[in-house]
Amino acid sequence: MARGLILGIESSCDETAAAVVERGARTLSSVVASQIATHLRYGGVVPELASREHLRAIVPVVRAALAEANVTLADLDAIAVTSGPGLAGALLVGIAYAKALAYAQGLPLIAVNHLEGHIHAVLLQQRQQMSVTEPDLNDEPALALVVSGGHTHLYLARPVDGTWQYTLIGRTLDDAAGEAYDKVAKLLGLGYPGGPWIDALSRFGNPHAVPFSFAQIKHKVHLGGRAPRTRAATSSPIATLDPRFLFSFSGIKTAVLRYVELHNLRAEAAVRVPRMLAMGRPPQDKDDALALCPPDTLDLIASFQHAVVGDLIKKTFAAAESLGAKRILVTGGVAANQELRARFTAAATRRGLFIAFPTLALSTDNAAMIAAAAWPRLVAGEFTPESLTANPSLALGI
Ligand code: KG4
Ligand code: ZN
Repeated sequence: MARGLILGIESSCDETAAAVVERGARTLSSVVASQIATHLRYGGVVPELASREHLRAIVPVVRAALAEANVTLADLDAIAVTSGPGLAGALLVGIAYAKALAYAQGLPLIAVNHLEGHIHAVLLQQRQQMSVTEPDLNDEPALALVVSGGHTHLYLARPVDGTWQYTLIGRTLDDAAGEAYDKVAKLLGLGYPGGPWIDALSRFGNPHAVPFSFAQIKHKVHLGGRAPRTRAATSSPIATLDPRFLFSFSGIKTAVLRYVELHNLRAEAAVRVPRMLAMGRPPQDKDDALALCPPDTLDLIASFQHAVVGDLIKKTFAAAESLGAKRILVTGGVAANQELRARFTAAATRRGLFIAFPTLALSTDNAAMIAAAAWPRLVAGEFTPESLTANPSLALGI
């Protein structure tokens, strides 16, 4: 293996991404074509539109990633691609292109689980920094919270003989945290994805104005192995997990809906949509925020975020304590949240635990994390057969 160069391709949701990463540790390029503009007006990802946009973007995005890295296909050592979980049609675009490139160039193909990719976003970031004060990344187990639009999962990640093994410790029974952000944002007439808007607006509200709370999940809720009526709960052995580490975000979404109805905020939310679309990006200062939302709505937004972050902290640190984990990795789109970063960091410092996040660009979907996750597998010679296909509900670990 000459330079240890992996081209990563990611197309599981609404981002078409390609990146070239050297030896799982140095990002030579990371190109992300976002489809936000396409989905914004629908308030969420429209799967058919996502596939069409991926088809349009995949070739130019891969070309741009190679050009930015100043390499050609002939310089590569492997092609890595996200094989799931995600939208079937979206995943297939990346997989078909990755397979064709690998076949044409005679390169090994490495399928990567999107969730494993998110965990490696933090590891990649740390390898790039390589601060001497940090514990050796290669032999410490870590508790990883993957918190995104599709997932809120806790894993114990352990390096074993050069590759990584994952044990599922906790997960959401229903909505992912990012999904709750997106649904609450839609309810309030705010942009898609909702996280960055709520993140920006919550800075100007009182987080204690509305006392949202999370009930402790009881055993009987998840007896039988799956929670009823939830898509998110169909793929993992929930009944075997400790209920202290289970999340549920559908309740707070309903509580926000009730609050909106009780306080007659629906009409106001409807007139906000055109203002939000005209603004195009989340507000930067208090005047911007007040131009979009009255103070009581800002209080509602701040209270929602405060409660969600508090619940994530409580369960993550309870799991860390129970497992004796000294290292916590927080990753996924919601890990871009400013309040989440500040409060998780403070909680870890108080307990003397090590905590790490990816950069903001590596928090949301990207392909550098996919190429980084593939590196240990390239070294171990663990390749994926050409029969690879998309697995929309692919689970990670045991
Ligand atoms: O990881 P990601 O890009 O895609 C998935 O794998 O789902 O995460 C996207 C999610 C969306 O729900 C979005 O609202 C949320 O991450 N998000 C945020 C922030 N930035 C993105 N949530 C809270 N605060 C943010 N700053
Ligand atoms: Zn993701």
